[in-house]
Amino acid sequence: MDVYEAVTSRRAVRGFTDQPIPKEVLERVLSAAASAPSGSNLQPWNIYLVTGAALAELKKRAGRRVVARDSWDEREYEMYPSELKSPYHQRRSAFGRDRYGALGIAKDDWEASQRAAAANWDCFGAPAALFCYIDRDLGFPQWADLGMYLQTFMLLLRSEGLHSCPQMAWSVYRKTVAEILTPPERLMLFCGMSIGYEDVTAPYIRNARAPLEETVTFVDTAPQQSAQTARDGTLLGV
Ligand SMILES: Cc1cc2nc3c(=O)[nH]c(=O)nc-3n(C[C@H](O)[C@H](O)[C@H](O)COP(=O)(O)O)c2cc1C
Repeated sequence: MDVYEAVTSRRAVRGFTDQPIPKEVLERVLSAAASAPSGSNLQPWNIYLVTGAALAELKKRAGRRVVARDSWDEREYEMYPSELKSPYHQRRSAFGRDRYGALGIAKDDWEASQRAAAANWDCFGAPAALFCYIDRDLGFPQWADLGMYLQTFMLLLRSEGLHSCPQMAWSVYRKTVAEILTPPERLMLFCGMSIGYEDVTAPYIRNARAPLEETVTFVDTAPQQSAQTARDGTLLGV
């Protein structure tokens, strides 16, 4: 599979079969994903790959919390700013419309959308899940490194015929995840990810992307550089 095909065929799949994934496939993907870049090669990702009885137990415990309408664990990071400005607010609304519209859920049907969202904590039926942790004292650039690792991992899954869904949703039940994984105290959960073979009967709508002009600016004429700016250049240790 070429890179373009891997990139364009990756999407957040929210329906998996229970077909198990051979361990050697997961090991191959994890070994190659370690080639992802990171500032000063810190490799700040701490990955747990969960299958079998451990994943079944995690889904069971999380499912119990969903049914009990247990309150979410206190946040260690905010998923989004409390007020999303334009254009993010509109993009988020469009995403919600598409996601729940594909399932035939009306915009104001809170119960039905909660039921659909609850599938997150069953990993949408997937037989494997990844959990990505980061050291609490690392900063924004290292969080960006996690993104590079996770995307690399998801693209490699495509070349193995596998699909994925990254899930910040797991962070709201981070204590339940920690009960199963027992990570060291210094680590904080960024996200989970469901991994498996797609259930092709699950409905979905492909999420559109903003046109290039909205997100990309081509720059090809250099501004006049002042003598001061030229002198300010320093050597970065990255
Ligand atoms: C960091 C991250 C966290 C996400 N968390 C969730 C989640 O908790 N549940 C979910 O169903 N999708 C989640 N998604 C999937 C996004 O909704 C999806 O990537 C986005 O809508 C674009 O759609 P596509 O990936 O299908 O192209 C997450 C994606 C990312 C990158």
